[in-house]
Amino acid sequence: MLASLNVWADVIAAGLVGAAVLFWIVQLVGNGVSGRFRQKFRFGQWPEHDEIIPIFPRLIHFLHVVNMIMLAVSGIYIRFPFYPGLKPLNQQIHYIAMWAVIVFMVIRIVYALIVDRKTFAFTRQDAKVMPQAMMYYMFVRKHYPHLSKYNGMQKLTYGYAFPVLLTFLAITGLSMFWPAQLLGWTGSIASSAAYARIIHFTLAALIITVTLIHICLSFVEDFPALMIFFGLRRQYWEEDYDEYYEEDEELDDRSDARPDDQLDDQLDNAAVAKVLAAEDPAPRKKSKK
Ligand code: HEM
Repeated sequence: MLASLNVWADVIAAGLVGAAVLFWIVQLVGNGVSGRFRQKFRFGQWPEHDEIIPIFPRLIHFLHVVNMIMLAVSGIYIRFPFYPGLKPLNQQIHYIAMWAVIVFMVIRIVYALIVDRKTFAFTRQDAKVMPQAMMYYMFVRKHYPHLSKYNGMQKLTYGYAFPVLLTFLAITGLSMFWPAQLLGWTGSIASSAAYARIIHFTLAALIITVTLIHICLSFVEDFPALMIFFGLRRQYWEEDYDEYYEEDEELDDRSDARPDDQLDDQLDNAAVAKVLAAEDPAPRKKSKK
């Protein structure tokens, strides 16, 4: 029974990671063929943000990334120890990262409850817009249905799926770490630990898959925000904040001032038209003889 469950766990894990790889391929090809990459990377038509991402959640996110990489790599090695000499060191790495990830997860949940709970609140409107967002990601719809900072799927992933999966990983992981204390009530510590190991491994494959999809969408949908999140780029709205609002005030003072979004549209369109014209000049009229 345990042996066949272990084989199934490997099959499920391979299927999940295969699905994530397929997702990457579809996104890269789809964005290239549909011209979205050109719009985004060439003309800079990325989602607009009107708020500064605070340093604290960015820092926690960075620490999570570091720990998750350590846990995933060391975990895969625990299951498939292709080079036996590294076993004790690898185990210590998993143990250190597991405590770190638990501590940071608790801190992030407390922060969310106190500071940015609303960002993850799933509304009826989110449920309505979710199919449209899904169709956009599947290249069926042309435009992204912007409703709030995160769409319904992002709220469910960041606010629920990640914390719930990590909690179950922590519970199953700690049952292997302290089997006598945590699994004694089951009556059979050894076989319970073996089941915990299978669940832990399958959930690890699931969280790795969700994370790979999350990385893919961050890359193709909002590359500038991804860079900002890792401190590799300054938030443009931080740099240009004063200048931007000074310009706004000047425009408001003028009686013929038009709404901002109309102005931005015109500026964008003019810039895009200029680049397009340079790349693809209009055919010259034939001169009459
Ligand atoms: C959240 C807290 C976590 C705890 C407390 C934890 C704890 C543990 C423990 C105690 C083991 C057994 C180590 C051994 O036998 O030497 C283990 C194995 C493992 N962990 Fe974790 N872990 C956690 C998170 C993760 C995460 C996030 C991943 C992957 C992204 C992961 C992937 C794995 C894998 C693949 C194994 C090997 C399972 C097997 O042998 O089949 N763990 N973990």
